[in-house]
Amino acid sequence: MNTNLFEKEKEYFIHTYKRIPVDISYGEGVYLYDKQGNRYLDLFSGLGVNALGYAHPGIVKAVSDQISKYAHLSNYFVTDIQVEFSEKLLKCSRMSKVFLSNSGTEAVEAAIKLIRKKYGPDKRIFSLTNAFHGRTYGALSLTANTKYRAPFLPLLPNIYQLEFNSLDDLKKNLGPDTAAVFVEFIQGEGGINLVSEEFIKELKILKEKYNFILVSDCVQSGIGRTGKAFAHDYYDISPDIILAAKAIGGGLPLGAMLVNDTLAEEFAPGDHGTTFGGNSVCCAAGNVVLTEVFEHGLVDEVKKNGAYFIDQLIVLRDMYPGHIKEVRGRGYMIGIDFKYECTNIVEKLRNRRIFANCTNNTVLRLLPPLILEKNDIDFFLYNLHEIIKETDKI
Ligand SMILES: Cc1ncc(COP(=O)(O)O)c(C=O)c1O
Repeated sequence: MNTNLFEKEKEYFIHTYKRIPVDISYGEGVYLYDKQGNRYLDLFSGLGVNALGYAHPGIVKAVSDQISKYAHLSNYFVTDIQVEFSEKLLKCSRMSKVFLSNSGTEAVEAAIKLIRKKYGPDKRIFSLTNAFHGRTYGALSLTANTKYRAPFLPLLPNIYQLEFNSLDDLKKNLGPDTAAVFVEFIQGEGGINLVSEEFIKELKILKEKYNFILVSDCVQSGIGRTGKAFAHDYYDISPDIILAAKAIGGGLPLGAMLVNDTLAEEFAPGDHGTTFGGNSVCCAAGNVVLTEVFEHGLVDEVKKNGAYFIDQLIVLRDMYPGHIKEVRGRGYMIGIDFKYECTNIVEKLRNRRIFANCTNNTVLRLLPPLILEKNDIDFFLYNLHEIIKETDKI
């Protein structure tokens, strides 16, 4: 390890991140290589971003071709690459119109602005307890974690949290003064929590009655990660707004707010904008991602392999009920909820050359590249089993 690099990091950077003490040289497929030549299986893919893994030849070619034409044109120009990307995105989401951003948070901000423009400041916006929607002032107003919020109060007014999966809370709080409800159909940062069918059924009844906007935040759970295009596709409900980011750029910064017919004309020129959003090089990478995931069948592989992965983890849970409380998830968005803090497990996996992440204290979160294959899953399962066996002996 290059200690000098980490010393410089301490000296130069504002310390908002806990850095991983591995000095990465390059990536290929589902693997990362450090500067000593060690190979790591990456089950976290840059926070759920690198859908096609590292150095995917299609992405490398598309990005190189595009950058040699032009890297960026302002949004005053219409570009074929943006149009092609948006067409694919609208097709897989079955939505009407799109606004392209650089990130998930910016897609969230666009949605908040659109909702406020439609309903004004007095109607109420809701998110759910344990939700994560980003950290800028608007997005943070929807994010539930008090640790993230407390130092930055006051946040936006008239935004509240509904108890996750509580039908009573839905009935008690939603009414004619509701503007919108933001839902992560699978909460990511909150610990891979699946919203229940009953909750969505009740939400649908109330939505039909009060006509509020339903926003599906699929920044983490979209673009095939769950084995369907978007996490809400597992439920009998149609959102009015879908938010996507992370995986859609295949490693380059790209986000999207997609809206249905009813909201298609809400924003007028000048209401919102961005310099880089929908950047040409990012869209070139995004086109390859959408083609691979939705036209070349990767989404079906994720569904099949994800089901195998989760089934095998449930077998492990049944073998070690003293260690694993629950296994949750769909496709390649998986949480293994331990009965104790899981930072130790993350460290032990890293020592065995596997990257994973711990969220909400006890949940080992797996967001692998969508190209992950069964032999990689088996390698991970073997190592996790060994770690649990070792821990069991202590
Ligand atoms: C559900 C959800 N929404 C929004 C965001 C924010 O996205 P970004 O970090 O791209 O700004 C995240 C990031 O983790 C997320 O998981």
